[in-house]
Amino acid sequence: MDELGLNKLFAGILVAGLMLMAGIKLADVLVPHSELAQNAYVIEVPEGGAAVAEAPKDTGPEPILALLASADPAAGEKLAKKCTACHVFDQGGANKVGPGLWNIVNADKGAVDGFGYSSALIDFGGQWDYAALNAFLKKPKAYISGTKMNFIGLKKPTDRANMIAYLRQQASSPAPLPTAEEIAAETGG
Ligand code: HEC
Repeated sequence: MDELGLNKLFAGILVAGLMLMAGIKLADVLVPHSELAQNAYVIEVPEGGAAVAEAPKDTGPEPILALLASADPAAGEKLAKKCTACHVFDQGGANKVGPGLWNIVNADKGAVDGFGYSSALIDFGGQWDYAALNAFLKKPKAYISGTKMNFIGLKKPTDRANMIAYLRQQASSPAPLPTAEEIAAETGG
């Protein structure tokens, strides 16, 4: 092919390209885009997967009463090392960063003599029954927003049960363990 032939070929390709682009533009104008009513690709989420994807619901801490019967206070005493920077568990133990915790099960909240509680805890009120301790120890600041107890919490229900079983023992007369009726009521059955 001579030079003229090549030029003609390129010109031809160029014109064809321009026409194609013009054609696409024209089609755009003639056939307006409409919003898709639905994603073109529907992503199938299996039943179980959908539940996981949902924002975690605040269903409160797992039931604790049934776990208390088989809880291990000695394991709780080991866990208490997480608390001893701030708390003393023995009878007559002084207040430190946190109040002394002797006799704490079923005690009124915020009632240890000589300790300066946050108003958040005082205003919250009520007693430290097993359910309240379970909720507080899971995530103190979620249960009593504004508490000055700077502790992340005990995530595992068995850890909380062991911890509470230890707290129960650190008392002049340990609180009664939950009855079968109380356990059934807590689990809603
Ligand atoms: C960093 C210090 C710190 C750690 C660690 C800590 N606490 Fe506390 N705790 C506090 C403070 C401070 C308060 C008082 C909270 C307030 O007034 O809001 C408190 C309050 C409490 C109360 C309520 C007492 C009452 O008289 O109402 C309980 C029960 C308790 N802590 C248990 C524990 C246990 C069990 C652990 C370990 C698993 C623990 N805390 C770890 C600082 C701590």
